[in-house]
Amino acid sequence: MIPKAELHCHLEGSIPPELARALAARNGLELPANLFGADGHYVWRDFLTFLDAYDRVCGVLREPRDFGDILYSYLQRAAAQGAIYVEMFCSPERPRMLGIPYVAWLGALVDAIDRARRDFGIEGRIVGICIRHLGPDRALALAQQMVAEPHPYVVAIGMGGDEAKFTPAEFAPAYRLAHEKGLGCTIHAGEVVGPESVWAAIRDLPVTRIGHGVRSIEDAALVEELARRGIALEVCPGSNVALGLYPNRAAHPLPRLIAGGVRVTLGSDDPPFFHTTLGMEYDEAGLAEQVLRTITRTAIEASFADEATKTKLLKRIQS
Ligand code: ADE
Ligand code: ZN
Repeated sequence: MIPKAELHCHLEGSIPPELARALAARNGLELPANLFGADGHYVWRDFLTFLDAYDRVCGVLREPRDFGDILYSYLQRAAAQGAIYVEMFCSPERPRMLGIPYVAWLGALVDAIDRARRDFGIEGRIVGICIRHLGPDRALALAQQMVAEPHPYVVAIGMGGDEAKFTPAEFAPAYRLAHEKGLGCTIHAGEVVGPESVWAAIRDLPVTRIGHGVRSIEDAALVEELARRGIALEVCPGSNVALGLYPNRAAHPLPRLIAGGVRVTLGSDDPPFFHTTLGMEYDEAGLAEQVLRTITRTAIEASFADEATKTKLLKRIQS
């Protein structure tokens, strides 16, 4: 099995329908209305209804251990698919809305990473994710929280949500603070909005990675700039096809980005929503084994893990 590393997966977006049902039952909650279709999968139609379905899945969460159980079970599945490292996007907004203290939430995630390392040999880290459509003030508050309560597993700040809302420049105070305190920086851009969104992100924020970024392919000068600066893209082809950016995997720009010299990695984004897994992303990328091995190496190098962890992980993929 090809060793894998994943830099783009959302914690709550990784909840399989059966786990959502189990968590709802454990918490004595009704499942949110219209969450599942007749086939038992999550129902959504487009990007905004996907974000809404994502929020409704979060409705089954109540306790810190819910978040820990999601992470542990994801790391277990990822390890079974050959993953040796997962950097998980975890939004402190979710526990905040539930009245769970940041440190209690973080403690459950840290415990999950430690247990998964012990049980499955996989390493995990956390990217604290802001939600773009909640605005710059929330993002700054979140950055302040992350730097006030530092933890070695919380390695970066990121941002998901509705890419059409606000501009990267408005989030510069949050990103600047995180960057000054040594955290890595990534942001979703060039997914539902075109190259101008990526240009703005790399101009106005100290990011070394872009979530998705695939629509950079629409601007040759941008592809050149990403390659020149060594900015890594967290590419999630299954997600892009599911959300209708491209009609099928064959039409996806991944090979053209590689040909343009851009550093790329593979991620599953929100796997059960998009009927994918990290293993499927590797299997269905249409790339030679050697290229896939290079993608894993790039993911480790572009990860926000500390240098000692990166060295250890790189050794594991050498054999
Ligand atoms: N949150 C979860 N998945 C996302 C995606 N693909 N784009 C933006 N925000 C997200
Ligand atoms: Zn994402």
